[in-house]
Amino acid sequence: MLTLIEQLGIGAADLAAAFLFLYGLHRMSSPVTAPSGIFVAGIGMAVAVLASFLYAFGVDTAARSNLPVNIGLAVVALVLGGGAAWWSGRKVAMTAMPQMVAIYNGMGGGAAGAIAAVELFGNKAQGETELIVTLLGALIGAVSLSGSLIAWAKLDGVINKPVRVKGQQAFNALVMLVTVAVGAYIVVASADKAALVLAMPTTIYLFFGCALALGILMTLPIGGADMPVVISIFNAFTGLAVGLEGYVLQNPALMIAGMVVGAAGMLLTLLMAKAMNRSVSNVVFTNFGEVAKHKQGKIKGSLKPIQPGDAGIAMRYAASVIIVPGYGLAVSQGQGKLFEFVKLLQAGGVSVKFAIHPVAGRMPGQMDVLLAEAGVPYDLIVQLEDINDQFASTDVALVIGANDVVNPAARTDKSSAIYGMPILNADYAKKVFVIKRGEGKGYAGIVNALFYADNCDMVYGDAQTVLVKMIEAVRGLNLPAVA
Ligand code: TAP
Repeated sequence: MLTLIEQLGIGAADLAAAFLFLYGLHRMSSPVTAPSGIFVAGIGMAVAVLASFLYAFGVDTAARSNLPVNIGLAVVALVLGGGAAWWSGRKVAMTAMPQMVAIYNGMGGGAAGAIAAVELFGNKAQGETELIVTLLGALIGAVSLSGSLIAWAKLDGVINKPVRVKGQQAFNALVMLVTVAVGAYIVVASADKAALVLAMPTTIYLFFGCALALGILMTLPIGGADMPVVISIFNAFTGLAVGLEGYVLQNPALMIAGMVVGAAGMLLTLLMAKAMNRSVSNVVFTNFGEVAKHKQGKIKGSLKPIQPGDAGIAMRYAASVIIVPGYGLAVSQGQGKLFEFVKLLQAGGVSVKFAIHPVAGRMPGQMDVLLAEAGVPYDLIVQLEDINDQFASTDVALVIGANDVVNPAARTDKSSAIYGMPILNADYAKKVFVIKRGEGKGYAGIVNALFYADNCDMVYGDAQTVLVKMIEAVRGLNLPAVA
């Protein structure tokens, strides 16, 4: 039993951790304060982890002999897990971030599932309600673990096609029903303790097996372009599972952290679905790729290549430029050169802004992070809804490694996979330059009519290489800076 002082100590630590999570999250709402927000939430996590060691004081005498081994194992797990996360976090490329998020998300779901497994196999649930909550956490955590691992495999290219078979949704529904039925059986059987001892281990294995299979089956048919939304849904699931297991363990820090993650994941899911003009059920239950296979009508116009230097000089003589960064900028890692080019334009009196589409790149906020990394001031970075009206009065829209987010088919072609998705109105600018390596399509796999438009010229090449040439050309003009 914990003494009153020890209980108060744990309570205070949990409260401090919960406060730090919430305060950290609050600071993450602006790019300026986000880095410190992440740091604050990290301290909260460290406090919560340290507080969990305080529970060691309360173990009963029978279990006390195992304490050194168990604490030793926990420390080894912390060092290994913390070390792996530190190493991979430092090493990961910006373009591989979504995969990393998927893996971490799966680990969270797996951890909640593991807590539930200890409770279930150890027969620890006190009463029916606690058992149901444990099972719910186990189900959601296991689905999140296996589903996130499939999402990782898809984003990493290990699985490079959606796996779809006839009658898949009916089969998934059946697996769901079986899982719930097995869970219900565990609850009913546990009312009779004798049956519980006989039936439980196999039934619990079956329950976890079904839940893990469900996560895999749910995620396999979903196309790569929908993976961010799926990861975000699993993120919400993980939060919920952790919150439920926090209730089972009566741990306030876990409950609060779980609910915060769950709510944040659900909000992000809704925002992303809105940005792609799709409902969440549409993402989960329909096959995105199939729509993309529609026959695209013949596109009018032609592709008009232009040299990087000529495009760069044209922008130097423009009054206003809006830059639309996309996935290709992250691939080329050209953000540093881009900002160097922007500073040259600004020195010449050109007004420059960055237009950010909510799903540009391959993860939410990727373009904001990329530009922040290069040191671009936040006041130059404008989100879609605030900048879209400004394109029509802008001299040049410079599209760098972006494609789907400026594809006018989203406005006009009802049969297009991206129809209805809000896009950046780059095509409304007086002149458009597009930097890309060749005729590669965007993530949705459709041709972009903007590239063929009369007001658009193509600057072919890797984004970073092209930007270096643009910088050289503008510097070569030897124009004086405008005060
Ligand atoms: P995309 O539509 O994917 O287009 C990227 C373009 O960049 C390609 O057309 C490619 O053309 C070009 N590119 C690639 N590497 C390049 C390089 N080194 N230098 C220059 N250009 C390069 O990108 P987007 O406009 O950012 O749109 C994002 C798409 O991904 C949307 O469909 C969105 O729904 C989806 N998605 C978004 C997310 C999130 S949450 N952000 C996650 C997953 C999927 P070339 O091959 O010809 O160079």
